[in-house]
Amino acid sequence: MTEAAQFALSGKELEYPVLSGSVGPDVVDIRKLYAQTGAFTYDPGFTSTASCQSKLTYIDGDEGVLLHRGYPIGELAEQSTFMEVCYLLLNGELPDQGELDHFSHTITRHTMVHEQLAQFFRGFRRDAHPMAIMCGVVGALSAFYHDSTDIHDPQQRMIASHRLIAKMPTIAAMAYKYSVGQPFLYPDNSLSYTGNFLRMTFGVPAEPYEVNPAVERAMDRIFILHADHEQNASTSTVRLAGSSGANPFACIAAGIACLWGPAHGGANEAALNMLHEIGTPERIPEFIARAKDKNDPFRLMGFGHRVYKNYDPRATVMQKTVREVFEALNVQDPLFETALRLEELALNDDYFVEKKLFPNVDFYSGVILSAIGFPTSMFTVLFALARTVGWVAQWNEMITDPDQKIGRPRQLYTGPTQRSYVPLTQR
Ligand code: ACO
Repeated sequence: MTEAAQFALSGKELEYPVLSGSVGPDVVDIRKLYAQTGAFTYDPGFTSTASCQSKLTYIDGDEGVLLHRGYPIGELAEQSTFMEVCYLLLNGELPDQGELDHFSHTITRHTMVHEQLAQFFRGFRRDAHPMAIMCGVVGALSAFYHDSTDIHDPQQRMIASHRLIAKMPTIAAMAYKYSVGQPFLYPDNSLSYTGNFLRMTFGVPAEPYEVNPAVERAMDRIFILHADHEQNASTSTVRLAGSSGANPFACIAAGIACLWGPAHGGANEAALNMLHEIGTPERIPEFIARAKDKNDPFRLMGFGHRVYKNYDPRATVMQKTVREVFEALNVQDPLFETALRLEELALNDDYFVEKKLFPNVDFYSGVILSAIGFPTSMFTVLFALARTVGWVAQWNEMITDPDQKIGRPRQLYTGPTQRSYVPLTQR
């Protein structure tokens, strides 16, 4: 604790402790504010509110820094693997070789889903959005593991976490297979986490599938880039849902629902659709003008971030990965040129400079994912797959936090004051 914050309200002078983390802004601990003054704080969108303590992820939005357990995202994306990052997020430290082998083995052994779960897919319309399927099917997992999940038992929590990380690629691939009318593929335990996902998605039972190592590496890196991101909307949703003691599989389904929105994980799909709509670089100024027009709801998708007021460090890695994937697959996509030009023009435009709007992780991810062969409707599914480790790590942290309470925000009520009921005949 560094100092106290002075606060005066209705003639009362109060002091609130100021707490310091290991790095980052201090927080004013206002937990006693309501009891002492009868007043709430008002902070829609939680722009000034720290809802919890966390040791997982640190973001310095002004400097464009993202650390997982202290390690910079750029270093993890370049040198680590998604399995290692999952271990790191869940356990706090990087694994040694034995720990990594054991962890990968455990995850691999949980990749199959109950045969009955496959039947849930058939209940969806063939053209259902895969995120709708993900919400439903991941929520349905809670029915398979309800009685066996005591959230107060650390070991059972860890098993639930492993199950979620392991089954998400299987369910995501099944959602894709269902939408294209191809048979589901069982996991292949001889492959890596990411290689297995690529095979379940793009392979068919009729012939062998060879995992392209460059694509596998790029996909793994994309998973690393999406693994966790502090107290974002979907993570806060998982924490809030979990704060009541709810089943973790159902909590993750809640996170998936939140992630789906175009202001959050749905932005990668929206960004690629926007690039298609723009088409050629000549039309970019028209779209930049629309994004700046207060009377036009259009926004540059993949631009701007609640926390980053600088280049999103994940976008830097993503831009580099586009080139690697294009080279490995020997493809060219004119949309990438459009994206690069759009970035250049926006970053030199006063509106974007003044508002500190930079490309975020979603700006380039769509270009890569479509080069690999994913339809746009799968983009947010891939995000959900990768973010599952962050959600479960945050959920675990929340359950063990001694300060944890059921999440219950208050409000500034602006509706009618008390009035008497008027019978229907007199209205
Ligand atoms: N295009 C044009 N103008 C923008 C954009 C954009 N992409 N983003 C923000 N602005 C403007 C707003 O109109 C606002 O202007 P004003 O101050 O004149 O009213 C100002 O910049 C601040 O924007 P807010 O929406 O208030 O900022 P907030 O932090 O609430 O929103 C958000 C952040 C939702 C990400 C926003 O930048 C946005 O909608 N971006 C496009 C969607 C997107 O790419 N989302 C992905 C986020 S990353 C992720 O979820 C993984």
